[in-house]
Amino acid sequence: MISIRYLAFLWLTTLLACSNPEQPSETKVQQTPKQTQIDNAKDYHSFANPDVVKVSHIDLDLTADFDKHQLIGTATLTYQKIDEQGKTLILDTRGLSILEVTAGNTPVDFELQEEDANLGSALYISLPAQGNQVTIRYHTAEDASGAQWLTPEQTAGKQYPFLFTQAQAVHARSFIPLQDSPQVRVTYTATIRTPKELLAVMSAANDPDTERDGVYEFNMPQPIPSYLIALAIGDLHFKAMGERTGVYAEPSILDAAAKEFEDTESMLEATEKTYGPYSWDRYDLLILPPSFPFGGMENPRLSFITPTVIAGDKSLVSLIAHELAHSWSGNTVTNATWRDLWLNEGFTTYLTYRIMEMIYGTDRYNMEAVLGYQDLQADIASLPDNDEILAIDLRGRNPDDVFSNIPYEKGALFLREIEQKIGRDNFDQFLLEYFNHFAFKSITTDQFISYLDKTLLTTYADVLDKERVHQWIFEPGIPDGAPVPESDAFSKVDNARNAWLAGSVTAEQVDTQGWTVHQWLYFLNNMPDDLSEKQLDELDTAFQLTASKNNEIAHSWLLIAVKNEYKPAYDRLYSYLVGIGRNKLVKPLYKELAKTPEGKAFAKRAFDEAKPGYHPLTVHVNEKFVE
Ligand code: BES
Ligand code: ZN
Repeated sequence: MISIRYLAFLWLTTLLACSNPEQPSETKVQQTPKQTQIDNAKDYHSFANPDVVKVSHIDLDLTADFDKHQLIGTATLTYQKIDEQGKTLILDTRGLSILEVTAGNTPVDFELQEEDANLGSALYISLPAQGNQVTIRYHTAEDASGAQWLTPEQTAGKQYPFLFTQAQAVHARSFIPLQDSPQVRVTYTATIRTPKELLAVMSAANDPDTERDGVYEFNMPQPIPSYLIALAIGDLHFKAMGERTGVYAEPSILDAAAKEFEDTESMLEATEKTYGPYSWDRYDLLILPPSFPFGGMENPRLSFITPTVIAGDKSLVSLIAHELAHSWSGNTVTNATWRDLWLNEGFTTYLTYRIMEMIYGTDRYNMEAVLGYQDLQADIASLPDNDEILAIDLRGRNPDDVFSNIPYEKGALFLREIEQKIGRDNFDQFLLEYFNHFAFKSITTDQFISYLDKTLLTTYADVLDKERVHQWIFEPGIPDGAPVPESDAFSKVDNARNAWLAGSVTAEQVDTQGWTVHQWLYFLNNMPDDLSEKQLDELDTAFQLTASKNNEIAHSWLLIAVKNEYKPAYDRLYSYLVGIGRNKLVKPLYKELAKTPEGKAFAKRAFDEAKPGYHPLTVHVNEKFVE
């Protein structure tokens, strides 16, 4: 029998759907983005209604079922009614099975809306007149877009299974029913139940000495956006690197990781000195299996890190500087919508360069800046104009499909220009105040611009102006007269490459003594597209590139190999594609392979073999290349 209360709920949701164009009719707005004026403060990637009812705390009690590949349990949400008349709490979900919703032990009505391919399904919960908590009993789908369940064979130790989540940008909703918008900040507590021999860690306070008994309690006392909620479970062990820094990893890679990243504590101290105190207590790293789809993820207090940067020589540790820097730009001051991602990534990339300079010196800073600039130029050469805009219009698009260097390197270059115009110390002072001013807030590009207007644009009106700022943020390309990073250490690499290409020296004769990984990357990345088999053989014989253990060098070399169909490198290419799931390293290879029928067939073979071990995001982003 249908209860009156349920009929009233249906009536209410219908009413809401008609009267509130921001909610269920979302999909329509998204399909016709150009016809409507963009609302800059609106999150087009969430169905939630925080302006009516806002969730402020989440308490999780979840069991990780490694047989079913499900998280199962409850999420208790504490909310406030922003609008006293508000009767419906709207949450984001994706693939979740909602078993029951209760308030004070009494079941309440709920309805899961139809699924949108990019956004998942809105969950409408009808709220009781009194109270401020609802408990949702649910379980995740086996193929949750934000979680990866790994078999023991897919881990370093090969003995225990592993689970990790990756919420950014819109995947928290695939493992927790919540208001999945960076505009909504929540504190959280969690009880995570695992097989006894495994350890759970979260983006929260982790106790390195916790008893390994299969029940782990967490508390994140600072309000964070949903995309920073993270969980990992595995045969994890801890090693301290400094007073406030340490690393969690599987035992077989723990020592290597702690050694590789031993400068983390100095990075933390240097960043604090320049940009103000670290707000998050401890800063630990978690090393994931190679299928982790990103280089790193700035989950607060516990950055998630790909093992592919453990190179043995600290050559790729700018990744750590980057994830650490997010503790200021991103986690403390957060982008309000995914259109504003450049506020997270551009500021963080700028800070990364600065941290690298503080720890490793100006030569390294310059080299990394040139490589970043070249990545940016490559994207500008290939992306459509609209995708080169910092404040990008993402309506109707899946943020996962729009990943590029623009928010990172163009954002950083913009800040570098301001730095050069007003002086480094002044700009550092500005950043310090900016982080303080917006601490624990989520801000839009417009809010940033009006803050800039009131601060730097007023104080330094002689060197900065509004039009220029506007050009950087809203127009494609790199503005004329923008800074161009340069590195002396690369001049000799240019000379060496040119001499070899001109045939005046053999590869053997090139003096590569003492070249850094960055010089090798610059050497390879700037080769002409077409090289002969003989030239490739010569390079490979002289420098053992196919055998390179540095994953970035191997990547650059394999890309050259694919462009020139250099078959001696294809076994390595195959095992590289199957062994690594980090999207940035595999996607350019799939994309290049897909340009010829033979390449595509090879790519398909590798992809099919790799797929069971790839993260859902890596599958999603690359499957189009092998279809
Ligand atoms: N927060 C990002 C990863 C991310 C961005 C995930 C957007 C989902 C959507 C992380 O901090 C990052 O930028 N990772 C980079 C690091 C690199 C630029 C040093 C990566 O994974 O390659
Ligand atoms: Zn980042």
